[in-house]
Amino acid sequence: MKSLKIGICGWGNVATGLFNTINQNKELIKSKGRLDIEISVIGARRDNPKCNPGNTEIVRDIFDVLDKEIDVVVELIGGVEVARELILKAIKNKKHVVTANKAVIFNHGDEIIKEANDNGVMFLYESSVCAGTPIIKLLNEELAASNITKIAGMLNGTSNFILSNMEDGADFKSTLELAQKEGYAEPDPTFDIDGMDAAHKIGILSSLAFGTNLPPDDFYIEGISKIEKDDFKYASEMGYTVKHLAVSKINNKEIELRAHPALIRSNSYLANLKGVRNGIELETDLLGTLHIAGSGAGQESTASGLISDLVFLANSNINPSSIEKKEKNGLIDFQSLSFQYYFYIEAEDIPGVMASITSIFAKKNIGIESIVQKEDLKEKTVPIVLITDLFLESNHIELLDNILKLDSVNSVRSIRIES
Ligand SMILES: NC(=O)c1ccc[n+]([C@@H]2O[C@H](COP(=O)([O-])OP(=O)(O)OC[C@H]3O[C@@H](n4cnc5c(N)ncnc54)[C@H](OP(=O)(O)O)[C@@H]3O)[C@@H](O)[C@H]2O)c1
Repeated sequence: MKSLKIGICGWGNVATGLFNTINQNKELIKSKGRLDIEISVIGARRDNPKCNPGNTEIVRDIFDVLDKEIDVVVELIGGVEVARELILKAIKNKKHVVTANKAVIFNHGDEIIKEANDNGVMFLYESSVCAGTPIIKLLNEELAASNITKIAGMLNGTSNFILSNMEDGADFKSTLELAQKEGYAEPDPTFDIDGMDAAHKIGILSSLAFGTNLPPDDFYIEGISKIEKDDFKYASEMGYTVKHLAVSKINNKEIELRAHPALIRSNSYLANLKGVRNGIELETDLLGTLHIAGSGAGQESTASGLISDLVFLANSNINPSSIEKKEKNGLIDFQSLSFQYYFYIEAEDIPGVMASITSIFAKKNIGIESIVQKEDLKEKTVPIVLITDLFLESNHIELLDNILKLDSVNSVRSIRIES
């Protein structure tokens, strides 16, 4: 049986979850993973009242962990710059590194992977995307023989929790408060709500599947704060629901990379993943469409992914970070993509309003698949819901502006439809 001595940096949620899981499941990891994990040292700048480290050595400076007699540094401090410095130093000290930190990989992944290659150590990060739900090693190992053409998924549990509750009739603000109360959303939820967390994760998956850079070039990122509960009602009448989707897709050697809300078919697999769950759909040549879903956050789930990295590290001779990246692929300009759109327009209930709206689309040669005037709102305003044919993203902002400029229109919003 192999054994590994590890040093844990950070002593928060995930680190204490890892500590407890390794101790509680020691025999299971030995029998199934053929690995004996010894936690030699913990870098904790202060005690954590939720976890007693027993006799394990504690150092107050996380950088002191790197000088200890250990095989692996498990970086669990989060953030970007200090984490980068810690990981690079660990690698230069010839320690393998395991991390759950998507932000540092998104921003400095290529640099860190190169350093790991140059120093002959492994850099593993299964828990950085969807926590312990397996996706990184799946892309690297199990799908090694498959061409992947598209990755699409709900990669942020908080956003999926909020949207699922809105689908059931709740509004955004109260659902966010509930998510915070239940511990699904951070006290400052900006990173989740504005789409950045999902963007980090799809950036990492895209680098594995399509060889895009880490950090990637700029790509389109939009969060869920403009979605209203009425959008679910109107979407549902047309057979759709609203999800926050992160997408990476190959298109003639160029890569489409984006993270934004989208209408997806209500009977699709992803549409039916509710609550904090994460879900990914992979399109492959050999396996067809593959679905993966599971918990995307939490102590146990993240510990599961971290331990899977340690088991891989101990039992594999192949260094995944040393695998030559596929040919580098550039990103497609988002403005050159085409989408069908859902538009919600609130207008005054006066004759000719529908005609003035449709003429704006006609001027741009954009077809309208359906347009419906819904029941009256208060003060003689009516909601108009419109589905367009495919049109170029570069027309989108101008269309919104032109609709809003109409005297009879009070507000307008739009959501892309994922084909
Ligand atoms: N929570 C999840 O469900 C989850 C899931 C997947 C991945 N992750 C990733 O796992 C990592 C850890 O998340 P977490 O939830 O455990 O965070 P957390 O509870 O905030 O814990 C972070 C720990 O790192 C310490 N730390 C931060 N900066 C430090 C520094 N400069 N020097 C020394 N110690 C430092 C903190 O110390 P103080 O307490 O003194 O600040 C704390 O002990 C993050 O990268 C996160 O994205 C988390």
